[in-house]
Amino acid sequence: MCGIVGYIGEQDATPIILNGLRRLEYRGYDSAGIAVLQDGKIELRREVGKLDRLVDLVRQQPLAGNLGIGHTRWATHGEPSARNAHPHVSASGEVVVVHNGIVENYLELREELTAEGTVFKSDTDTETIVHLVDRFLAVDGDLVQAVRHTLLRLRGAHGVVVFSTREPDKIIAARIGNAGGVVIGYGQGEMFVASDIPAILEHTRQVTFLESRQMAVVTRQGAVVQTLEGKPVQPTLHSVSWDPVAAEKGEYRHFMQKEIHEQVRSLTDTLAGRVDFKQGRVRLPQLNLDAQQARAIERIVITGCGTAAYAGMVGKVLIETLARLPVEVDIASEFRYRDPLVNERTVVLAISQSGETADTLAAMEEARRKGARLWSIVNAIGSQAMRLADGSISMQTGPEIGVASTKAFTAPIVDLYMLAILLGELRGTLSDAERRKRVKDLGRIPDLVGRCLDREAEVINVAQALKEMRSALYLGRGVNMPIAYEGALKLKEISYIHAEAYPAGEMKHGPIALVDRDLPVVAIATQDPWYEKMISQIEQVKARGGIVVAVATEGDERIAALADRVFWVPATPWLLSPVVTVLPLQMFAYHIAALRGLDVDQPRNLAKSVTVE
Ligand code: F6R
Repeated sequence: MCGIVGYIGEQDATPIILNGLRRLEYRGYDSAGIAVLQDGKIELRREVGKLDRLVDLVRQQPLAGNLGIGHTRWATHGEPSARNAHPHVSASGEVVVVHNGIVENYLELREELTAEGTVFKSDTDTETIVHLVDRFLAVDGDLVQAVRHTLLRLRGAHGVVVFSTREPDKIIAARIGNAGGVVIGYGQGEMFVASDIPAILEHTRQVTFLESRQMAVVTRQGAVVQTLEGKPVQPTLHSVSWDPVAAEKGEYRHFMQKEIHEQVRSLTDTLAGRVDFKQGRVRLPQLNLDAQQARAIERIVITGCGTAAYAGMVGKVLIETLARLPVEVDIASEFRYRDPLVNERTVVLAISQSGETADTLAAMEEARRKGARLWSIVNAIGSQAMRLADGSISMQTGPEIGVASTKAFTAPIVDLYMLAILLGELRGTLSDAERRKRVKDLGRIPDLVGRCLDREAEVINVAQALKEMRSALYLGRGVNMPIAYEGALKLKEISYIHAEAYPAGEMKHGPIALVDRDLPVVAIATQDPWYEKMISQIEQVKARGGIVVAVATEGDERIAALADRVFWVPATPWLLSPVVTVLPLQMFAYHIAALRGLDVDQPRNLAKSVTVE
């Protein structure tokens, strides 16, 4: 997961930046770099691999200066290498940038810049940013304007930090969407910029956070914050506790809320190094899979518990649709004792955030005994579920501390989508054009997720109105049926409100008897192949006096007219829609629990890692 550290002041910038990057190391990265303003020039050091290699390089080729920026990178565009590592310097040598996020329109920008004669030195999307700033700077002669114009050309979600030899008294930092935060730290005659508080915590407790579409001009004396449109913003100063765990909560009240908002970044990271947007391909080398093996698989059984199993239920639809391979989802605690029918032509795929869930591990062992091939999708690196498997995909979401799983739900869905594309390609069920389209859709995910998260205020309004409810019914169909289960699970586990989920078509077989004016029915009705069916289900609830809270696609007038409340989500390719439809439901559960004054991060009776049966 990319990390950013910047410094401007009177001290030597290099050790401050390298130490800051060290504090972000646990988030994972594959290369690192630093740029310092030295004698009026930008001096750059970059290395692939661990930070120690960069530290060695800096030892051999020292840097000296009071202004600099550093970065740890997870590759998204272009392999991990020194050449692709950040910072990136412009052709004029006057501008340098570090960046978190994905420039969705980078191909278009790259073509435009190349046509103007810019020669690219890396394969990254980030390099387009630095050349654009350079270009605008040559015209305007003003760094702030040049950065602003550049940011307005970028699609997607970003954290960007820039400095230039032309205006060596400042660093400019900006945030668009939720590709990780940008935090600014205040010292005495010195200032710090970072993607995360721990990077600067040893130097300051006074911080401010940039909101989406804000930029800060940071000098030794302080920071002037404005919107991208140039409207001044009065920054709110926060005093951070020195407790590193509390500090990690940053601007959020609870870890769960922070983790919900981290999903732009966690999903960017789970794509990192696995998607080649240029070629429209997915690579999952961890699975060691070739066409012959892919064709030999007869069946996939996905296993896991709770939220992980619901992610698996989405995966069933994805793999069956794109790779035409039968998939079953088997709850791990059932699978392990049922003498399951698996053999060497079955892949058993376990999903687990902790990688230590006793039932999931036992299911894996049972599958192993029966000769199945074992894969896993796991968050905790080095955990047993990772080690037991023949091949394992890392979720790359970073630590999840809130007991209710959020970012470890959306990441495996994206991983399963990538797996479905890979299997589809190897098994010959996806045409070249379709595969390219599906891969292109993946690149839109961080932005779509950011747009949902930006609507949190609307979710809070609904949570305010419904916080006293005693029960709720969640309905969904097709690829969004598991989202009904997940939404209901989130609500019950942290707010202690009874919530049930059903495939919407099952309503008429019983649950419809529950409907009355006291029962909110949460219906996921986005524009997917089951949309018309969901509309008629909603009509049936309304006809019986029920309250409908819909999750629907922005601009859908039928839903606007039918439902009592709506969580709007942006139009999303339907196979990827669960990644966005779950977000308002996560926020809804969170805000209801927070409004009820409950211990959101540690709900009663629950543990983060269930290592017992
Ligand atoms: C719900 C939740 C649990 C876990 C389940 C499996 O929010 O967190 O349902 O998903 O206990 O845990 P892992 O993924 O660690 O195997």
